[in-house]
Amino acid sequence: MTIQKKPLGTLGVEITGVDVGRDLSGGNGDNLFGDIRQAWQEAGGLMVIRDQSIDQQQHIDFSRRFGPLFHDDGQPPLQDTVSRYLHPDYPQIYRVSNKVDAKGEPTGRKGAGTYWHSDVSFRDRPAQASILYAIQIPPYGGDTIFADMAAAYDALSGGMKAMLGNLNAVHDFAVAAATQYAKPVVIDKDFDGANQCVHPIVRTHADTGRKSLYVNPGFTSHIEGFTAEESRPILDHLYKHATQPEFLYRHAWQPHDILVWDNRTLMHYAVSDYAADRYMERTTVIGERPV
Ligand SMILES: [Fe+2]
Repeated sequence: MTIQKKPLGTLGVEITGVDVGRDLSGGNGDNLFGDIRQAWQEAGGLMVIRDQSIDQQQHIDFSRRFGPLFHDDGQPPLQDTVSRYLHPDYPQIYRVSNKVDAKGEPTGRKGAGTYWHSDVSFRDRPAQASILYAIQIPPYGGDTIFADMAAAYDALSGGMKAMLGNLNAVHDFAVAAATQYAKPVVIDKDFDGANQCVHPIVRTHADTGRKSLYVNPGFTSHIEGFTAEESRPILDHLYKHATQPEFLYRHAWQPHDILVWDNRTLMHYAVSDYAADRYMERTTVIGERPV
């Protein structure tokens, strides 16, 4: 079988003609998955697969083709603060939703990711791919915006590239916890050092060899060896530069989209401009240590 591909902005690809639950299961799906993965990487790190109908186990099986998942046996969990949003039967599945259940309990994290970030960048081995499945979407609103951090890097001056090439940045879940999470939700154990780490500001993609900026407003606290005050203007410049319209793609969700993004080379922002019910499920693939 052959898949159909269409550009998704300048940084992604839309895939049709594949049934992820059926065509990719078992060893027979290896070649097809190889084609899909290659198309995803060549396009720049974003991929939507339209019109999918998968259950949680199929979502997990598909995701594991990219690599091990947070909460897989023997693998680290996500930060404790989001543990309440995990699927009760499938801890690999992080629920993103504004809905509440019959007891008034949230069925997922409401307003998740309403800030520019790269998933889990505060870990030594941050997220590689995030794979978000849209089960229920509002009639309008709730788009997700992506920023191409490789294109943003390429467009920097030679002087800036040379300076950044020698620098590391500190990533810390506490940055988002202080601004994006309600106090009663945040779990203190998340600040014991497990959610803080240092990464190069410019990372080289393990598969494509492309360089990308790897700092984000959600989790980056400061540049290593610099004070917070010294870091601020440099980081703010990079964020302003990277979020210019030329580097962005805005995804308007369709029901049953599976969206796969590469956190190694993209930042994203979930626009919170809707009131109607939304329910999505995400798996998160563990990546390599950034270099
Ligand atoms: Fe996110």
